[in-house]
Amino acid sequence: MAITGKTRICGVIGDPIEHSLSPTMHNAAFKEIGLDLVFLAFKVTPDQVENAVKGVRSLNILGLNVTMPHKNKIISYLDKLDPTAEYLKSANTILNANGLLTGFNTDGTGAMQALLQNGTDPNGKKMLILGSGGAAKAIAFAAARTTDQIVILNRTPNKSQEFAKNLNHTLKTKIEGDALTSQSIEKNMQDAQIIINATSVGMQPHDKISLIPPKLFKQTQTILDIVYNPIETKLLNDAKKAGAKTVNGVEMLIHQGAASFEIWTNKPAPIEAMRKAITNQLMTKGEST
Ligand code: ATR
Repeated sequence: MAITGKTRICGVIGDPIEHSLSPTMHNAAFKEIGLDLVFLAFKVTPDQVENAVKGVRSLNILGLNVTMPHKNKIISYLDKLDPTAEYLKSANTILNANGLLTGFNTDGTGAMQALLQNGTDPNGKKMLILGSGGAAKAIAFAAARTTDQIVILNRTPNKSQEFAKNLNHTLKTKIEGDALTSQSIEKNMQDAQIIINATSVGMQPHDKISLIPPKLFKQTQTILDIVYNPIETKLLNDAKKAGAKTVNGVEMLIHQGAASFEIWTNKPAPIEAMRKAITNQLMTKGEST
């Protein structure tokens, strides 16, 4: 669609941002549906986040994605937060509705949708989540709505323990938080049905490592890796070889993007067009983040 005087802007802010896949994904989606929108990436340094939000208001930008390192900082400049962004104190999506800026966090629902749309319903399953950073927290918060059997393991154990305690207090759940060790991995792999790597382990250039020994995978398990560079991590490769079902980080990226798209446009996201655009960019250009 031609850019005219009526075309509106969506975008992503972060630092660094040059390798973001979001412009490719969202412009493909806008084109597919024929929306008069364009998506751009803006490099915004931490000291400019407040000014960037003022810019959203003054330029009447429709929506933003927010990525590293601004997901926490941004929330203090918004008018409203949805309950997920409020709990996580972190927003990855902003909607500008006639000057009222609302923050959302679609990372967790993106992960749950990635599982569901790839044939694994997380409802009632025993879930093992590795990591306790921003992504792990968003995923655990969404997962806690679908299952009451969640174990969170983290290299720095007080983070997973504190987070589990806080979640249990807020959601009246019985999530366990523990140290990530070879013993705790082995123990929890015995009955985990869904395993989610929400750490950065396995990302290029350290793509020869995985937190789970290959012998621990079972055919009945589904493994989701939030790392999408490489698309098939060692973790997913090992799991696949053992006959387990795998869901890669591109799927999570697409579904969190789809949730943002739906917030901005109120229309169902064209998932297939988004997947094709991202996969093409990753395969042809070897882009990284
Ligand atoms: P994000 O917001 O993307 O989740 P983050 O907040 O930096 O990023 O979190 C990264 C996660 O990966 C953390 O859980 C981190 O563990 P620590 O809390 O102990 O730092 C985890 N992580 C990173 N490198 C790791 C490694 N080599 N082994 C185990 N966990 C690792």
